[in-house]
Amino acid sequence: MTTNGTASAASAPEDAGNDYLEMDLLRFTTAGSVDDGKSTLIGRLLYDTKSIFQDQMEAVEEASRTRGMTDDDDVPNLALLTDGLRAEREQGITIDVAYRYFATPKRKFIIADTPGHVQYTRNMVTGASTADLAVILIDASRGVQTQSKRHGFIAALLGIPHLVICVNKMDLVDYSEEVFEDIMDEYTDFAAKLDAKDLTFIPVSALRGDNVVDRSPNMTWYEGSTLLHHLETVNVAADKNLRDFRFPVQTVIRPNQQFRGFAGTVASGVVRPGDEVMALPAGTKSTVKEVTTFQGDLNEARAGEAVVVTLADEIDVSRGDMLVRTGNTPTVGTSIEAMMCWMSEEPLAKDRHYLLRHTTREVKAFVDDIRYRVDVDTLHREQVENLELNDIGRVLVSTASPLFFDRYSLNKETGAFVLIDPYSNTTVAAGMIRGEGQDADKVAAEAQRLSMGERPQSENVVWEGLNIPREEREAKQTHKAAAVWFTGLSGSGKTTVAREVERQLFERGIKTMLLDGDQVRHGLCGDLGFSQSDRSENIRRVGEVARLFFESGAVTFCTFVSPYRDNRDWVRHLFPEDRFFEVFVDVDLETARERDPKGLYAKVDAGEIDNFTGVDAPYEAPENPEITLQTAGLSVEESAAEVIRQLEEAGIVPAA
Ligand code: ADX
Repeated sequence: MTTNGTASAASAPEDAGNDYLEMDLLRFTTAGSVDDGKSTLIGRLLYDTKSIFQDQMEAVEEASRTRGMTDDDDVPNLALLTDGLRAEREQGITIDVAYRYFATPKRKFIIADTPGHVQYTRNMVTGASTADLAVILIDASRGVQTQSKRHGFIAALLGIPHLVICVNKMDLVDYSEEVFEDIMDEYTDFAAKLDAKDLTFIPVSALRGDNVVDRSPNMTWYEGSTLLHHLETVNVAADKNLRDFRFPVQTVIRPNQQFRGFAGTVASGVVRPGDEVMALPAGTKSTVKEVTTFQGDLNEARAGEAVVVTLADEIDVSRGDMLVRTGNTPTVGTSIEAMMCWMSEEPLAKDRHYLLRHTTREVKAFVDDIRYRVDVDTLHREQVENLELNDIGRVLVSTASPLFFDRYSLNKETGAFVLIDPYSNTTVAAGMIRGEGQDADKVAAEAQRLSMGERPQSENVVWEGLNIPREEREAKQTHKAAAVWFTGLSGSGKTTVAREVERQLFERGIKTMLLDGDQVRHGLCGDLGFSQSDRSENIRRVGEVARLFFESGAVTFCTFVSPYRDNRDWVRHLFPEDRFFEVFVDVDLETARERDPKGLYAKVDAGEIDNFTGVDAPYEAPENPEITLQTAGLSVEESAAEVIRQLEEAGIVPAA
């Protein structure tokens, strides 16, 4: 049956020994208050998987009896078990996270149990940052509480890939399917606003043991997994970043003149002898000679493994430097945008310096700006002067020497940092890097572009991230990706000019695509007409498709009447600022009418078409287009040359 006891290791899970870590392992965190039944749930998991030492069990049984808290099935009070273990643990620990270990024949588990009451945020950030999964408890008899949302927000912020919502105390609501479904609907709506990943709902009664380890006979309507089964089978292997090799150097080992190695833990990616690498910040290149451990040489080392790397050349590398693959490098810079959780009683002070610890580097840092604080209950953004204990906010941080970083969402190791108070030497904040430092306008634009609320999302879908990021694709091309959006009246010349531009760039070996109104309205948008709402939907779909082509590295041309400014602005926000080009194909109605390439104006006049743009439907001209073409006075070639010239000037395509 089960193999491992619990509660014997009082410190962080890293101390649990290598054998333990090498087995298939799931780290999860639990969030909820004692009132939600969290302690009982953990107790139930340990008890039903028989993960409890006999002597602990006897002590709990004894305590339950003397306190008269045994429930009617003669099961000892399981919360007492969990809380008793925690009390034991709390002595001498400043941050209140208790780690517990248990195992089944399928998997080993580490639970970071973060008490829900005071200082929930700080505790959760501490306990959950390395978790593969978060269990969030909701009391079925009380429904979705503010706190349940807060936990979801923090889990999403920390990038925990899997969320399990345990709707607990189902016994108190007569195991009602309706109650469960209502809670599920409400929470799913809320989670859609977060960048929440895989969401699973399980109706349980921790007290009675329903659907925790054993299937409940009381909820036959529920066809999903039990909590334990889900924990045993959820796929976490795919969550690891094995793509981007990052090796922060911990120590330089030089036992004699013949040997020089760099020791550290592979933060992400994989390294093998023969790999071409680059040392940051110097930028010097070399080749990996050996990857070794005390046990001998390895063929490869993966994320999480502690190894010594030797190089073919004698290059200057010291502690705090980073080895990466050439062609796949992190951002190097002294200014970062981050979400930060403030964890100290003493509020953040903008005018003083902190030490920023990032991988194996420690550098002097300042918080230059607090962009906003998030009200974690409502998700509203607030302007504040300060961050206080448990506050979460978006900040701009600058450092005295460069960091080599990635976005936290792409790489948790090189995307995370902590701030340390240099005087008290305590950790005051935990940060998740969002990207390079930017000016305020860019931040606002990005927030709008990424705001999931404006982009629909199906139920039960998981955003896996792009397999090959655009930057990687672009590195193999001669040009960058961009979206070039032509707007104007029917007959203005959008399609004609765009076709000519595309043809010329294609001939130069540039990867291109052209999306055209008349074409997508065969198929993709063939179900749409020309009402305002249908046109908006048309532009929305096309914007999303253009974004996909963009992410594939293509210079993507779109030719749509797109008469509404709001629609075009929405599309604009799907793209980085310097990669979207709005081309206003400006022509007066009379010229368009005369051209009438498809005979449509004639049909309008004959009363066969309604809602025709420019005639009886509005056209809102762009206010600040990147490019304007007055096609009445230009040949097709001249117009095409102008577009290409601007793309060259913006550095999208190389000059011919
Ligand atoms: S949009 O308004 O939704 O952006 P889109 O560019 O896809 O329009 O399609 C416009 C094309 O559909 C025109 O080139 C024209 O051939 C055709 N069309 C048919 N009816 C209309 C209409 N009422 N208004 C504009 N274009 C129309």
